[in-house]
Amino acid sequence: MLKTLLLPLISEGKKLVIVPVRNASVSAAKIGDKSEAIFKRESKFGAHNYSPLGVAINRGEGVFVWDVEGNKFFDFLSAYSAVNQGHCHPRIIKALTTQASKLTLTSRAFYNNLLGEYEEFVTKLFGYDKVLPMNTGVEGGETSCKLARKWAYKVKGIPNLKAKILFAEGNFWGRTLSAVSSSTDPSAYADYGPFMPGFELVPYNNIEALEEKLKDPHMAAFMMEPIQGEAGVVVPDAGYLRAVRDLCTKYNVLWIADEVQTGLARTGKRLACDHENVRPDMVVLGKALSGGVLPVSCVLADDQVMLTIKPGEHGSTYGGNPLACAVAMEALKVLEEEKLAENAERLGKILRASLNTLPKDRVKIVRGKGLLNAIVIDKKFDASKVCKALLKNGLLAKPTHGDIIRLAPPLVITESQLNECADIIKHTITSM
Ligand SMILES: Cc1ncc(COP(=O)(O)O)c(C=O)c1O
Repeated sequence: MLKTLLLPLISEGKKLVIVPVRNASVSAAKIGDKSEAIFKRESKFGAHNYSPLGVAINRGEGVFVWDVEGNKFFDFLSAYSAVNQGHCHPRIIKALTTQASKLTLTSRAFYNNLLGEYEEFVTKLFGYDKVLPMNTGVEGGETSCKLARKWAYKVKGIPNLKAKILFAEGNFWGRTLSAVSSSTDPSAYADYGPFMPGFELVPYNNIEALEEKLKDPHMAAFMMEPIQGEAGVVVPDAGYLRAVRDLCTKYNVLWIADEVQTGLARTGKRLACDHENVRPDMVVLGKALSGGVLPVSCVLADDQVMLTIKPGEHGSTYGGNPLACAVAMEALKVLEEEKLAENAERLGKILRASLNTLPKDRVKIVRGKGLLNAIVIDKKFDASKVCKALLKNGLLAKPTHGDIIRLAPPLVITESQLNECADIIKHTITSM
């Protein structure tokens, strides 16, 4: 049954108008004692390396999550784009539970019956010769850097220990020492030195600066995100990815596309690089490769790069485990068969058009591709306060950099749900 929730009166100049939320499926959230007890226990016994929004979730289904108090929310973070297929997608959960009761882990000391099937499936889908399976996104990034260095010494002929890898300023690819060594964000790297040598930086979205760097004969690879997610959904100019491809080819430098966040239908294409029809030398995938069920990542590359690593030279106990293989195949099939890239492309345009009607003195910029979007709010509004107000109104989103709010719902969201969410966001910001 369709409910219509009438949100409070909003002042529009001198006139008062009522903003109805179409088909309202969430109502005002009340955070209570059960939630408070969870916050306190985590704070007492857990490391303080995160500062979560004040909501304690115990159930998820599709675009919705529920907290321990029974409040229902739209999830506009999707676990940083890991839950593209929606929470607890029935097909992915079935693949997980069926395989979990048969065989979960053999290690790579032995063959298992699913790894080859998964490898064939994923390489044919993305059009690469080979895949190297890992677990977390950052391990995928580390693997691509190791492959780039091997290739530099074995194929490009860079003298031993001289290979360099170039990263874009504002990058984020995880939390290992290598990843933070390339970071330009002090909260990621401060007090973790000494840092990895052989890493260099170049401004993002700057083709001239990139060309200067790539002229260096010791440059092995350029690793970058086709849209910078953690930097606040920074979308490069049209043509940038094509120019990156051309320059990397010209200077015989490997192009590594970190599609851990942008890949797998999030930006409205299977890969964000598909927007410019360009093919990186290596693609790193993670997050939604398991639909949010367990850590599964991989690197895709062709033989000339992949076969530079020989048996015993790289690996991971869990990488390529049969449970991950079963889950990843189903997660990829769901993305394809449910046409989630197409849905993201279509609904992303509707979301941005809707949010662009907000007054510019409140929301300065609306940007993104597909359903990876962000709004930049005026400095006079604190993004974390806006997110707290959104939570109260039944929508979960996280602030970044003080004035940016990422808006990235699961890709299974419907048009009417998206319109409802746009109304919640607009109402919340207008009434701040
Ligand atoms: C672009 C990108 N690469 C890599 C990672 C690291 O993934 P993980 O947290 O699974 O290690 C992230 C995480 O947010 C990411 O956004």
